[in-house]
Amino acid sequence: MRAFIIDGKKIAEDIKAEIKVEVAHLKKQNIIPKLVAVLVGDNPASQVYVRNKGKTCVELGMDNETISMPSDTTEKALLELIHKLNNDSSVSGILIQLPLPKQINESAVINSIAPEKDVDCFHPVNVGKLSIGEPVFLPCTPAGVQELLVRSGIDPAGKHTVIIGRSNIVGKPLANMLIQKAKGANSTVTVCHTGTPDMTYFIKQADIVVAAAGKAQMITGDMIKKGAVVIDVGINRIEDKSTKSGTRLVGDVHFESVKETASAITPVPGGVGPMTIIMLMKNTLQAAKNLQKK
Ligand code: GUN
Repeated sequence: MRAFIIDGKKIAEDIKAEIKVEVAHLKKQNIIPKLVAVLVGDNPASQVYVRNKGKTCVELGMDNETISMPSDTTEKALLELIHKLNNDSSVSGILIQLPLPKQINESAVINSIAPEKDVDCFHPVNVGKLSIGEPVFLPCTPAGVQELLVRSGIDPAGKHTVIIGRSNIVGKPLANMLIQKAKGANSTVTVCHTGTPDMTYFIKQADIVVAAAGKAQMITGDMIKKGAVVIDVGINRIEDKSTKSGTRLVGDVHFESVKETASAITPVPGGVGPMTIIMLMKNTLQAAKNLQKK
Protein backbone atom coordinates (compact mmCIF):
# COMPACT_ATOMS: atom_id res chain seq x y z
CA MET A 1 0.00 0.00 0.00
CA ARG A 2 1.19 3.49 -0.81
CA ALA A 3 -0.17 6.14 1.54
CA PHE A 4 -2.01 9.24 0.44
CA ILE A 5 0.09 12.25 1.46
CA ILE A 6 -2.03 14.75 3.39
CA ASP A 7 -0.99 18.22 2.22
CA GLY A 8 -1.16 20.43 5.31
CA LYS A 9 0.15 23.42 3.41
CA LYS A 10 -2.67 23.25 0.88
CA ILE A 11 -5.37 22.72 3.54
CA ALA A 12 -3.96 25.62 5.57
CA GLU A 13 -4.10 27.81 2.43
CA ASP A 14 -7.78 26.92 1.95
CA ILE A 15 -8.57 27.93 5.55
CA LYS A 16 -6.48 31.07 5.15
CA ALA A 17 -8.68 32.13 2.24
CA GLU A 18 -11.80 31.58 4.39
CA ILE A 19 -10.37 33.63 7.27
CA LYS A 20 -9.33 36.42 4.91
CA VAL A 21 -12.94 36.86 3.81
CA GLU A 22 -14.10 37.06 7.44
CA VAL A 23 -11.39 39.56 8.40
CA ALA A 24 -12.36 41.79 5.47
CA HIS A 25 -16.00 41.58 6.56
CA LEU A 26 -15.12 42.58 10.16
CA LYS A 27 -13.02 45.44 8.87
CA LYS A 28 -16.14 46.97 7.37
CA GLN A 29 -17.46 47.18 10.94
CA ASN A 30 -14.17 48.76 12.05
CA ILE A 31 -13.07 45.65 13.91
CA ILE A 32 -9.49 44.58 13.27
CA PRO A 33 -8.35 41.41 15.05
CA LYS A 34 -4.98 41.95 16.70
CA LEU A 35 -2.56 39.33 17.97
CA VAL A 36 0.19 40.28 20.39
CA ALA A 37 3.01 37.75 20.68
CA VAL A 38 5.45 38.05 23.57
CA LEU A 39 8.89 36.56 23.15
CA VAL A 40 11.18 36.39 26.17
CA GLY A 41 14.84 35.61 25.47
CA ASP A 42 16.55 34.60 22.25
CA ASN A 43 15.61 30.97 21.55
CA PRO A 44 16.14 30.73 17.75
CA ALA A 45 13.24 28.29 17.17
CA SER A 46 10.87 30.58 19.11
CA GLN A 47 12.04 33.54 17.03
CA VAL A 48 11.17 31.66 13.83
CA TYR A 49 7.72 30.65 15.16
CA VAL A 50 6.88 34.18 16.26
CA ARG A 51 8.07 35.66 12.97
CA ASN A 52 5.87 33.22 11.02
CA LYS A 53 2.85 34.08 13.15
CA GLY A 54 3.41 37.79 12.49
CA LYS A 55 3.78 37.20 8.76
CA THR A 56 0.53 35.23 8.62
CA CYS A 57 -1.34 38.01 10.47
CA VAL A 58 -0.15 40.50 7.85
CA GLU A 59 -1.24 38.20 5.00
CA LEU A 60 -4.71 37.95 6.51
CA GLY A 61 -5.10 41.68 7.13
CA MET A 62 -4.92 41.32 10.92
CA ASP A 63 -2.94 43.60 13.20
CA ASN A 64 -0.01 42.11 15.02
CA GLU A 65 2.66 43.16 17.41
CA THR A 66 5.66 41.24 18.72
CA ILE A 67 7.02 42.30 22.08
CA SER A 68 10.57 41.04 22.63
CA MET A 69 11.94 41.01 26.15
CA PRO A 70 15.48 40.13 27.28
CA SER A 71 16.25 36.69 28.71
CA ASP A 72 16.78 38.14 32.22
CA THR A 73 13.23 39.55 32.33
CA THR A 74 11.63 39.06 35.76
CA GLU A 75 8.33 37.27 36.26
CA LYS A 76 6.92 40.48 37.75
CA ALA A 77 7.78 42.48 34.61
CA LEU A 78 6.13 39.89 32.37
CA LEU A 79 3.02 39.73 34.57
CA GLU A 80 2.75 43.52 34.44
CA LEU A 81 2.92 43.47 30.65
CA ILE A 82 0.20 40.78 30.46
CA HIS A 83 -1.99 42.83 32.80
CA LYS A 84 -1.63 45.78 30.43
CA LEU A 85 -2.49 43.65 27.38
CA ASN A 86 -5.49 42.14 29.16
CA ASN A 87 -6.87 45.65 29.66
CA ASP A 88 -6.06 46.96 26.20
CA SER A 89 -9.26 46.83 24.16
CA SER A 90 -7.34 46.93 20.85
CA VAL A 91 -5.76 43.53 21.67
CA SER A 92 -7.83 40.47 20.69
CA GLY A 93 -5.36 37.68 21.39
CA ILE A 94 -2.30 37.29 23.60
CA LEU A 95 0.33 34.65 22.93
CA ILE A 96 3.23 34.10 25.31
CA GLN A 97 5.77 32.04 23.40
CA LEU A 98 6.97 29.01 25.37
CA PRO A 99 9.39 27.93 26.71
CA LEU A 100 10.09 30.79 29.13
CA PRO A 101 13.44 31.39 30.85
CA LYS A 102 14.01 29.45 34.10
CA GLN A 103 13.39 32.37 36.49
CA ILE A 104 9.79 32.72 35.24
CA ASN A 105 7.04 30.41 36.50
CA GLU A 106 5.19 29.28 33.38
CA SER A 107 2.04 28.38 35.22
CA ALA A 108 1.80 31.82 36.93
CA VAL A 109 2.16 33.45 33.52
CA ILE A 110 -0.50 31.30 31.83
CA ASN A 111 -2.90 31.89 34.74
CA SER A 112 -2.51 35.65 34.35
CA ILE A 113 -3.73 35.78 30.73
CA ALA A 114 -7.38 36.84 30.42
CA PRO A 115 -9.14 33.60 29.32
CA GLU A 116 -11.05 35.48 26.61
CA LYS A 117 -7.70 36.52 25.03
CA ASP A 118 -5.98 33.15 25.55
CA VAL A 119 -5.79 32.16 21.87
CA ASP A 120 -3.44 29.24 22.69
CA CYS A 121 -6.12 27.70 24.97
CA PHE A 122 -3.54 27.19 27.74
CA HIS A 123 -5.42 28.87 30.63
CA PRO A 124 -6.94 26.35 33.10
CA VAL A 125 -10.40 27.89 32.59
CA ASN A 126 -10.17 27.23 28.85
CA VAL A 127 -8.67 23.77 29.37
CA GLY A 128 -11.57 22.99 31.73
CA LYS A 129 -14.17 24.28 29.29
CA LEU A 130 -12.60 22.19 26.53
CA SER A 131 -12.81 19.06 28.69
CA ILE A 132 -16.53 19.54 29.39
CA GLY A 133 -17.24 20.23 25.73
CA GLU A 134 -17.82 23.99 26.05
CA PRO A 135 -14.73 25.38 24.39
CA VAL A 136 -14.09 29.08 23.84
CA PHE A 137 -11.02 28.37 21.73
CA LEU A 138 -9.61 25.10 20.48
CA PRO A 139 -5.91 24.59 21.22
CA CYS A 140 -4.03 25.28 17.99
CA THR A 141 -2.07 22.11 17.25
CA PRO A 142 -4.85 19.67 18.31
CA ALA A 143 -7.35 21.73 16.29
CA GLY A 144 -4.96 21.55 13.34
CA VAL A 145 -4.80 17.75 13.62
CA GLN A 146 -8.60 17.45 13.79
CA GLU A 147 -9.08 19.80 10.85
CA LEU A 148 -6.53 17.87 8.75
CA LEU A 149 -8.45 14.67 9.38
CA VAL A 150 -11.88 16.11 8.70
CA ARG A 151 -10.83 17.99 5.55
CA SER A 152 -9.15 14.83 4.25
CA GLY A 153 -12.43 12.93 4.62
CA ILE A 154 -11.21 10.92 7.63
CA ASP A 155 -13.85 10.92 10.34
CA PRO A 156 -12.44 9.88 13.76
CA ALA A 157 -15.96 8.82 14.89
CA GLY A 158 -16.07 5.16 15.87
CA LYS A 159 -12.37 4.72 15.15
CA HIS A 160 -9.61 3.90 17.59
CA THR A 161 -7.18 6.80 17.82
CA VAL A 162 -3.86 6.24 19.55
CA ILE A 163 -2.03 9.39 20.61
CA ILE A 164 1.63 9.10 21.51
CA GLY A 165 2.61 11.82 23.97
CA ARG A 166 0.76 13.41 26.90
CA SER A 167 1.90 17.03 26.74
CA ASN A 168 -0.39 19.83 27.87
CA ILE A 169 -0.01 21.45 24.43
CA VAL A 170 -0.85 18.46 22.21
CA GLY A 171 -1.51 14.98 23.67
CA LYS A 172 -3.86 15.78 26.54
CA PRO A 173 -6.02 18.43 24.80
CA LEU A 174 -6.24 16.35 21.61
CA ALA A 175 -7.46 13.33 23.60
CA ASN A 176 -10.00 15.61 25.26
CA MET A 177 -11.26 16.87 21.92
CA LEU A 178 -11.47 13.51 20.17
CA ILE A 179 -13.50 11.82 22.94
CA GLN A 180 -16.24 14.48 22.84
CA LYS A 181 -19.60 13.47 21.47
CA ALA A 182 -19.23 15.96 18.64
CA LYS A 183 -18.63 16.31 14.93
CA GLY A 184 -15.07 15.38 13.94
CA ALA A 185 -14.65 13.51 17.23
CA ASN A 186 -16.53 10.66 18.99
CA SER A 187 -13.42 8.51 18.76
CA THR A 188 -12.13 5.81 21.11
CA VAL A 189 -8.88 7.29 22.36
CA THR A 190 -5.79 5.71 23.89
CA VAL A 191 -2.93 7.89 25.08
CA CYS A 192 0.53 6.25 25.18
CA HIS A 193 3.44 7.89 26.98
CA THR A 194 6.81 7.18 28.57
CA GLY A 195 5.03 5.13 31.24
CA THR A 196 3.53 2.74 28.65
CA PRO A 197 5.60 -0.48 28.73
CA ASP A 198 4.63 -1.85 25.29
CA MET A 199 3.50 1.00 23.07
CA THR A 200 3.52 -1.10 19.91
CA TYR A 201 0.74 -3.26 21.39
CA PHE A 202 -1.58 -0.23 21.32
CA ILE A 203 -0.24 1.41 18.15
CA LYS A 204 -0.86 -1.83 16.21
CA GLN A 205 -4.57 -1.58 17.04
CA ALA A 206 -4.94 2.05 15.95
CA ASP A 207 -7.03 3.20 13.00
CA ILE A 208 -5.51 6.65 13.51
CA VAL A 209 -2.07 7.24 15.03
CA VAL A 210 -1.07 10.72 16.21
CA ALA A 211 2.62 10.97 17.03
CA ALA A 212 3.41 13.81 19.43
CA ALA A 213 6.24 12.48 21.56
CA GLY A 214 9.12 14.67 20.38
CA LYS A 215 11.33 11.72 19.48
CA ALA A 216 12.73 11.62 15.95
CA GLN A 217 11.39 8.84 13.67
CA MET A 218 10.27 6.65 16.59
CA ILE A 219 7.21 5.25 14.76
CA THR A 220 8.27 2.79 12.08
CA GLY A 221 6.27 0.94 9.43
CA ASP A 222 6.33 -2.39 11.31
CA MET A 223 4.59 -0.78 14.32
CA ILE A 224 1.36 0.21 12.59
CA LYS A 225 -1.71 -1.60 11.29
CA LYS A 226 -2.04 -1.85 7.51
CA GLY A 227 -4.18 1.04 6.26
CA ALA A 228 -3.88 3.19 9.39
CA VAL A 229 -3.92 6.98 9.12
CA VAL A 230 -0.76 8.53 10.58
CA ILE A 231 -0.54 12.16 11.72
CA ASP A 232 2.93 13.38 12.63
CA VAL A 233 3.11 16.31 15.05
CA GLY A 234 6.86 16.00 15.69
CA ILE A 235 9.47 18.47 14.49
CA ASN A 236 13.00 17.24 15.18
CA ARG A 237 16.30 18.32 13.69
CA ILE A 238 18.61 15.41 12.92
CA GLU A 239 22.09 15.17 11.49
CA ASP A 240 22.24 14.66 7.72
CA LYS A 241 25.64 15.08 6.12
CA SER A 242 24.12 15.07 2.62
CA THR A 243 22.48 18.49 3.17
CA LYS A 244 24.18 21.90 3.02
CA SER A 245 23.42 22.67 6.66
CA GLY A 246 24.38 19.16 7.82
CA THR A 247 20.93 18.70 9.39
CA ARG A 248 17.34 18.18 8.32
CA LEU A 249 13.88 18.28 9.86
CA VAL A 250 12.02 15.03 10.52
CA GLY A 251 8.91 14.10 12.45
CA ASP A 252 8.29 11.49 15.14
CA VAL A 253 7.34 9.13 12.29
CA HIS A 254 9.78 7.28 10.07
CA PHE A 255 8.10 8.55 6.91
CA GLU A 256 9.72 6.24 4.35
CA SER A 257 8.71 2.99 6.08
CA VAL A 258 5.32 4.13 7.43
CA LYS A 259 4.10 5.42 4.05
CA GLU A 260 4.29 1.84 2.72
CA THR A 261 1.84 0.56 5.36
CA ALA A 262 -0.41 3.54 6.12
CA SER A 263 -3.38 4.63 4.00
CA ALA A 264 -2.69 8.33 4.66
CA ILE A 265 0.19 10.21 6.26
CA THR A 266 1.25 13.81 6.95
CA PRO A 267 4.76 14.89 5.93
CA VAL A 268 7.21 16.94 8.01
CA PRO A 269 7.52 19.73 7.11
CA GLY A 270 4.24 20.59 5.35
CA GLY A 271 1.79 18.58 7.48
CA VAL A 272 0.62 19.70 10.91
CA GLY A 273 3.00 22.70 11.16
CA PRO A 274 1.15 25.07 8.78
CA MET A 275 -2.17 24.07 10.40
CA THR A 276 -1.09 25.17 13.89
CA ILE A 277 -0.50 28.75 12.76
CA ILE A 278 -3.74 28.97 10.83
CA MET A 279 -5.71 27.70 13.85
CA LEU A 280 -4.09 30.44 15.92
CA MET A 281 -5.36 32.95 13.36
CA LYS A 282 -8.83 31.43 13.55
CA ASN A 283 -8.77 31.83 17.34
CA THR A 284 -7.60 35.44 17.08
CA LEU A 285 -10.48 36.17 14.72
CA GLN A 286 -12.89 34.43 17.12
CA ALA A 287 -11.48 36.41 20.07
CA ALA A 288 -12.06 39.69 18.22
CA LYS A 289 -15.66 38.68 17.46
CA ASN A 290 -16.33 37.57 21.05
CA LEU A 291 -14.84 40.73 22.57
CA GLN A 292 -17.01 42.83 20.25
CA LYS A 293 -20.16 41.15 21.55
CA LYS A 294 -19.33 42.08 25.15
N1 GUN B 1 5.87 26.79 22.08
C1 GUN B 1 5.75 25.65 21.33
N2 GUN B 1 4.50 25.54 20.84
C2 GUN B 1 3.81 26.63 21.28
C3 GUN B 1 2.49 27.08 21.10
O1 GUN B 1 1.66 26.45 20.44
N3 GUN B 1 2.17 28.24 21.70
C4 GUN B 1 3.05 28.95 22.46
N4 GUN B 1 2.63 30.06 23.03
N5 GUN B 1 4.29 28.56 22.64
C5 GUN B 1 4.67 27.40 22.05
